Amino acid sequence: MLAVRARSPRAAGASGGGVTTEVSAIPEDGGQGPGPEPADVLLSARGVKKYFPVRTGILKRTVGQLQAVDGVDLDIFRGETVGLVGESGCGKSTLGRTLLRLLEPTAGEIEFDGVDVRRLGGRDLKAMRRHMQIVFQDSVGSLDPRMTVRDLVGEGLRIHRLERKHRDVAVLDVLERVGLSAEAAGRYPHQFSGGQRQRIGLARALVLRPKFIVADEPVSALDVSIQSQVLNLLVELKQEFDLTYLFVAHDLAVVGYISDRVAVMYLGKVVELATSEELFRRPLHPYTMALLSANPEPVPGRKHQRVVLTGDVPSPIDPPSGCRFRTRCPIAQPICAEVEPLLVPHDEGPDHVAACHFAGTPIQVGAQHADVA
Ligand SMILES: Nc1ncnc2c1ncn2[C@@H]1O[C@H](COP(=O)(O)OP(=O)(O)OP(=O)(O)O)[C@@H](O)[C@H]1O
Ligand code: SF4
Ligand SMILES: [Mg+2]
Repeated sequence: MLAVRARSPRAAGASGGGVTTEVSAIPEDGGQGPGPEPADVLLSARGVKKYFPVRTGILKRTVGQLQAVDGVDLDIFRGETVGLVGESGCGKSTLGRTLLRLLEPTAGEIEFDGVDVRRLGGRDLKAMRRHMQIVFQDSVGSLDPRMTVRDLVGEGLRIHRLERKHRDVAVLDVLERVGLSAEAAGRYPHQFSGGQRQRIGLARALVLRPKFIVADEPVSALDVSIQSQVLNLLVELKQEFDLTYLFVAHDLAVVGYISDRVAVMYLGKVVELATSEELFRRPLHPYTMALLSANPEPVPGRKHQRVVLTGDVPSPIDPPSGCRFRTRCPIAQPICAEVEPLLVPHDEGPDHVAACHFAGTPIQVGAQHADVA
């Protein structure tokens, strides 16, 4: 279990499948400052797709499209943390990068702080990028090892043409805020541990004073004891810098701790979205139920039953018809192969959406996938 400070997940309003809802409740916030205003959307995605062409032969002819992200609707409210969870290859990183326009969307609309991100180019895009940063699993490990921390952290400011003397002041300030000494500025990345390198990665992002950070598996490569330190730092920095996070991870315990709301992804689509509390308490989608049941941490008040998914994740080049989860779903019915379920609310209120024709149906332990193809 992670040694993270206790806090209550905060309801922050939700939307999905084109449904926009208002904040329903903002209970105790665990010391993270005031919650977002109703309907104060910082980032809005509608029908976002990212396909990668599949090429073959000497002429590199396009023979298909890998549908990494296939029609995602998501509103992220100012000041909240949305967790994005799902198996490897389901499209989490691609979605995060596409929202920041580090990858060009194949289709869809992305609005950030009221601005249509897809229309931006040149100087405007550069200016916008300052407000939208990304932190990777090892944000520093992939960078030039010959650069000092001072230069690594100050790089964004240099790109934005801030003078050296002002840059150095800003770098030292941000290093202190992520818990590193001024002496660290003159050292090189390999001289730091994994946890310290993540602090440097955070400093690189924060020095530009962004509004929004995509944190892509920022603690996945760290020891459990270090994970909790970095998670707690992320929580503190969020408050200090007025940040909004999209927090990507495959570990539900981590996601549940840090997130106000959680989006569950499967094969390029969001299949369920709810407040963390609600998602853990009452998952509606069979895939979420399976993910939760694989979580070693039991949910208080619920009998722990393991739902084992059979079969491989289908190829995103040729996904199943209807519901993409149907080839592994223990409760699939013939309609699931024919009609794609929409991400809509069910009986739990408008803030909890799931894409399943039989949302909320309990899964019998030992139930196997019923072949409906
Ligand atoms: N640049 C690329 N070119 C072609 N295919 C890609 C590219 N980037 C990602 N993909 C494919 O898109 C799909 C989604 O990948 P993505 O990295 O977004 O998944 P993920 O959920 O972040 O996985 P992980 O948990 O392993 O990081 C995968 O099938 C992957 O192989
Ligand atoms: S729509 Fe059908 S196949 Fe898809 S998750 Fe629901 S029951 Fe399973
Ligand atoms: Mg990834």
